[in-house]
Amino acid sequence: NSSPDISTKLLDWYDVHARELPWRVSPKDLALGILPDPYRVWMSEIMLQQTTVATVKDYFSKFTAKWPNIAALSSASEDEVLRAWAGLGYYSRARNLKKCADMVVTSHDGHFPADVQALKALPGIGDYTAAAIASIAFDIPAAVMDGNVERVFSRLFTIETPLPAAKPIIKAKVAETLSQTRPGDFAQATMDLGATICTPKKPACMHCPVRENCKALEKSDPELFPYKLAK
Ligand code: ADE
Repeated sequence: NSSPDISTKLLDWYDVHARELPWRVSPKDLALGILPDPYRVWMSEIMLQQTTVATVKDYFSKFTAKWPNIAALSSASEDEVLRAWAGLGYYSRARNLKKCADMVVTSHDGHFPADVQALKALPGIGDYTAAAIASIAFDIPAAVMDGNVERVFSRLFTIETPLPAAKPIIKAKVAETLSQTRPGDFAQATMDLGATICTPKKPACMHCPVRENCKALEKSDPELFPYKLAK
């Protein structure tokens, strides 16, 4: 169950099975190690916080067509941004989007900082989004944690501590497992695995690239993980 093994298998799987999503680079660029535009990574991750991939696709395309870069978005009024956001919900995200664009333009010379702490200081960017942008746009080896990642890792390592107390334990496992050379692809591979194979119900373990590393599959039942504190 060694970590380089898990990350190598996840990345090999991702190279073949990555979902093609409008905020990702093309498979050709992926193979060349080309990183996506931080502006597009930020926009997609803010939208994906509380909205499904299927819904975000159209909004992401609309926003990036209308405002192709951070300067363009910063030039828009809050009202314009809110109108374009209509239907996505959680409107504080749209207000923070505009505030963040203004702050990147005024305080960071129009470039997102390549640093987790500096990213977290921006409006609307918390632990998850800072780690996602740092790893996906800048190849910084930050541990990205979301529901998919929590499920995949609680199964791989049979984490018996229930959520939410398990979060720091899972985060430590992610930190020691993640690829130092392709941290963004590693994070997105784990998300894709959680969304398509390591699903909450009836996971497709026969198709899983890390089934041989999965302690839950070996000695328990993956569907039982993650444990959750009784409500
Ligand atoms: N959910 C949130 N961010 C994601 C990403 N970058 N890829 C796939 N699913 C996601």
